[in-house]
Amino acid sequence: MHSRRALLYMPGDNWKMITKSITLGVDSICMDMEDGAAVNKKAEARETIIRALREIDFGASEKLARINSVGSGWEKDDIEAVLPYRPDGIVIPKVESFEQVDWAGRIIEGAELQHGWPLNSIRILIGVETAKGILNLKEIASHPRLDAIIFGGEDFAASIGATRTRDAVELLYARQAVIVACAANDLQAIDIVTIDYKDLDALRVESEFGAGLGFSGKQIIHPNQVRVVQDAFTPSEEAIAHAKRIVETFEASQKEGKGAYSLDGKMIDMPLLKSAQKVLARAAGK
Ligand code: COA
Ligand code: MG
Repeated sequence: MHSRRALLYMPGDNWKMITKSITLGVDSICMDMEDGAAVNKKAEARETIIRALREIDFGASEKLARINSVGSGWEKDDIEAVLPYRPDGIVIPKVESFEQVDWAGRIIEGAELQHGWPLNSIRILIGVETAKGILNLKEIASHPRLDAIIFGGEDFAASIGATRTRDAVELLYARQAVIVACAANDLQAIDIVTIDYKDLDALRVESEFGAGLGFSGKQIIHPNQVRVVQDAFTPSEEAIAHAKRIVETFEASQKEGKGAYSLDGKMIDMPLLKSAQKVLARAAGK
């Protein structure tokens, strides 16, 4: 799976931002036809995204297109417009059921077959950002074509009538629900946008908190946010060194017939080994 520490959006009709995005070293670039594109710019967004997919070399950045939600009336034209130009993935917002993912999965598979591209080569990422989406996560997250679930904090707060606060306590339950659904199905979990994009301290705190909860990456909306988010979702040198020590000492202690042992005055056993292995996997970009 492509590493998606930072996933940058821009309105799909904004050619300037799209061309800027490829200079930023960002993991994923998501050209938006949904809420970032004004209602009277939907057609222009499709055309501009097609032009970008045809003309621009995205380098190591993943190129994604976000369609309008299933049921909006725009979704079919959106997905059919961009698919022939082979984005790396499609982002479906406001998903509330397994069938909605399946709808996109069938259209994408049709395009892969028609163009002779490998099956499953175009990835699916979904936004879960409504009360219904959170309730139906168990079924939704089991869809075999999924790569990642993106949690939309602002949409979710609106959906449940919550007031957004700085520490986002009103979102904690849903964020954790997304993380659990992702972990159970081996998917990436991508955290909320920090909309106060000028406050990089707040962004760092929110990113580190999200990484600590178990998210693998975060949505961003401005170039200034790239580095802070990538740093927060990359394990630190200390964390990597500590994880390596756990892995090494664990093996030795197993050979001695000890399931639990002491390292630097702290108890180590199987769950700590698993955590250490997760840290090393993340450090390797998995
Ligand atoms: N992607 C790529 N480039 C971006 C960008 C983005 N999301 N946001 C800003 N930039 C560029 C600007 O074009 C500008 O480029 P320049 O220096 O070459 O002129 C530079 O970064 C600085 O931008 P700045 O003036 O600080 O921001 P702004 O006032 O123009 O825009 C926002 C602020 C929030 C409106 C803008 O960042 C934005 O539209 N973000 C994406 C919003 C979105 O897609 N929302 C839907 C998904 S949640
Ligand atoms: Mg949203």
